[in-house]
Amino acid sequence: METKNLILSEFEKNRNTLISGQSLADKLGVSRNAVWKAINALKNDGYNIQCVKNSGYIFENNNDIISKEGLLQYLKHSVQIFTYKELDSTNNEAKRKIANELKNDAIIISQTQTNGRGRLGREFYSPDSGVYYTLVLSTPKEIKDCVFITTATACAVSMVLEKFCDEDVKIKWVNDIYLNEKKVSGILTEAVTDFESGMVSHLIIGIGINTNTEIFPDELKDIATGIPLKGITKNQLIAEITENIYSFFESDKKDGYIDYYKSRSLVLGKEIFYFENSQKHEALAIDIDSSGGLVINENGLIKTLASGEISLRLK
Ligand code: BTN
Repeated sequence: METKNLILSEFEKNRNTLISGQSLADKLGVSRNAVWKAINALKNDGYNIQCVKNSGYIFENNNDIISKEGLLQYLKHSVQIFTYKELDSTNNEAKRKIANELKNDAIIISQTQTNGRGRLGREFYSPDSGVYYTLVLSTPKEIKDCVFITTATACAVSMVLEKFCDEDVKIKWVNDIYLNEKKVSGILTEAVTDFESGMVSHLIIGIGINTNTEIFPDELKDIATGIPLKGITKNQLIAEITENIYSFFESDKKDGYIDYYKSRSLVLGKEIFYFENSQKHEALAIDIDSSGGLVINENGLIKTLASGEISLRLK
């Protein structure tokens, strides 16, 4: 590892703390000059590092740059980490890595996406004010164990967002996260299946969050908003969501999150509409079943929607 990365790791472990150049040099077994050069390189990367004359350096608390070193402070699971300034789409990069024999679980993060993808072939607006990442789970899983991942991921994201923002976060079935009736986060889950075993070889869980995005293009400005978070860095946000997703998979009770999901639902008890074979259907959303299906009452007939897209009927 380069001296710069080793120093970043020390800084991420000791934010807002005065560390002397000599102690960094001793700890890392490098010269004072190498420490100085590495610190300048980190400053050039955009980190705020205060130099205190004759005393040392303070890595300021307001640093919020996604890095492997920062993420590793919070991640408990062993995951390969890939960070980029720009990608077409972190889900696309996940697929490329899988095609190149990715064996481990991985996190792929990009500061911006030029072709961020949403569900149903839509685009996901991805300027550098947001967080865009894909978690790849590479342990083969049975398809039945993956069904719940879409709703479970929505819970994983919502739990972390509500912990660090002062307002009510809601989940719009299936997996959009809303704040004040505008979308703040979208999730795109994809799977790679192994034809011979019939198992899911890799689960691709793509998460986009409009953390600090304030300005949206015209077509989005009435339906999307940002969610400024307090007391959490982007590294911590990604790590906490990832750990939540792992805990759902590791739990014996795979549907244990459903009560939470229901309690944050934006749609339960509301009139909704959806399209089937280009035909518009209107119904009342009445429940979420144990696999995350939306139970609706359509003119007295009780039905369950397993997937798809619904809209809320405005009164
Ligand atoms: C949606 O709103 O329909 C889902 C949006 C999912 C966006 C995320 S951003 C990270 C990952 N990469 C993508 O291209 N899409 C997902």
